[in-house]
Formats: sequence, structure tokens, C-alpha cells
Amino acid sequence: TGRTDIDARSPVPKYYQLREILLDLIERELAVDAPVPSERELAARYGLSRMTARQAVEHLVSEGRLYRVQGKGTFVSRPKIDIPLRLTSFTEDMRARGMTPGSRDLGRRLIPATAAVARELALEGGAPVYAIERLRTADGVPMALERSHIPAALAPDLMERTLEGVSLYEVLADVYGVVLDRGDQVIEAGIADSGDAGLLGLAPGSAVLLLQRRCWAGTTPAEYAVSTYRADRYQLRASLAMQ
Ligand code: GLP
Repeated sequence: TGRTDIDARSPVPKYYQLREILLDLIERELAVDAPVPSERELAARYGLSRMTARQAVEHLVSEGRLYRVQGKGTFVSRPKIDIPLRLTSFTEDMRARGMTPGSRDLGRRLIPATAAVARELALEGGAPVYAIERLRTADGVPMALERSHIPAALAPDLMERTLEGVSLYEVLADVYGVVLDRGDQVIEAGIADSGDAGLLGLAPGSAVLLLQRRCWAGTTPAEYAVSTYRADRYQLRASLAMQ
């Protein structure tokens, strides 16, 4: 069983002890969206000052474990979706978690590669690429925006195909024989601008994870994508080994 009381003699700061007690409560007893006791109630129950109780709650809010609703109180957040960092598609990631992946086509264009895209895909500047913009959903809820660039030469009539509700990686593999087998990815913190926030159902200025991925099919560069994931719904997991 978990901790249930503050140890006044412990060198562990009291707010930190309360944070752990609350985490335990969240994991064992409280449902998603359930209210947590007010700071006043916590202070009284654990013999702490209001300040200490607030500090513990504030930590859990900034970690995304709790959320506040103005004038209503503090509630338990939905656990984040944990994504292992591998060369998987959005469709595979969601299916592996028992969710139904979805995809809304926000626009597709055949454009000459800009200098930056040409560099990422090792193309001549101006070579034709598809710029594909999609809103990805899981169980109907917006999760990510994905902006992919694919060399047009790899997938001749991709513009004529629907990408609504289908896996791009499956289409590349099944229709064009382009099987991605290697990639690299840069992950950065970002802030959603008002356009992206609106599409993702977030308040403007919310935190997002920016994933920049390049991948290859054998030695052929096949995709350069920038994905914007909701930071309140996603966490990324890498397994580490000594090298
Ligand atoms: C991931 C990558 C994207 C890629 C997508 C393909 O989410 N970040 O770069 O385009 O998977 O997913 P799907 O095959 O479901 O369209």
C-alpha cells in the first residue's frame, strides 16, 4: 500500500511527501476527471500549511497529472499516451494502444521542394514533392498535426488517392512498394500557435511536442515530416543502452 501520512522527521520536503501521497491516490483511487480535495482540505487532513499544500498541487498541475478549472477546483488528468520511439506509423501507435486511428486531410499539394525540404530529402532544389497536411485523431479526438513531404517520384499518383482515414505508411508500402526501414527524429518543445491550437482543440499558447522525422526506404530518402503532438496527451519513451 502507498504512503498515507506526512513524516515530520523525514528530510524529504513536506510538499514532496504530499505530492507522492496525491500521486498514489490518483493512481489507486481517483478516476479521470474526479476532483481532488481542495488545498484547504489537504492542509487540514495532513497537518500542513496551505502554502505547502498548494506547492504540492501546483507541481502536479505543471506535470500534467492534475488540471484546474477556474472557480470549480482541481481534477485528475487523463494519463498520457506513452509512445515508444521507433519507426512506427501513427496508425500502428494508436492501434497498439487499443485506440482507433483517424486522419483528416487538411490539404495536399504537389510543390517544388524548398531549399530546406530538398536538403532533408537529398533532392535537387525544386524537385517535385508532395506536401501533405493531416490532422490525426485517436478515437475521434484530435491528437497531432502531421506535415509530411514525400518525393513525388516515389509515389506517382499519390495526389489522386484519398488519405482520409488511411495510413500513409501502408499506402507507401502496399501501393508503391516503398517500405520505410530507417529514420532519425529530432524532438523539441513548442508552443501551439492559434491555428494549430484551434485544430488540436487546445488553448493558444499550449505546450506541444514537435517531432521532426526523416526516413528512408533502403538508401532512398522517403519522408520528411514535422509533427505537432499535444503535450498534454503524449509522452515519448526511449529505451537506453550503454554503447
Ligand atoms: C508518424 C510520423 C509521421 C508519419 C506518420 C505515418 O506519426 N511522425 O512522420 O507520416 O507516422 O502514419 P500513418 O501511416 O498512420 O499515416
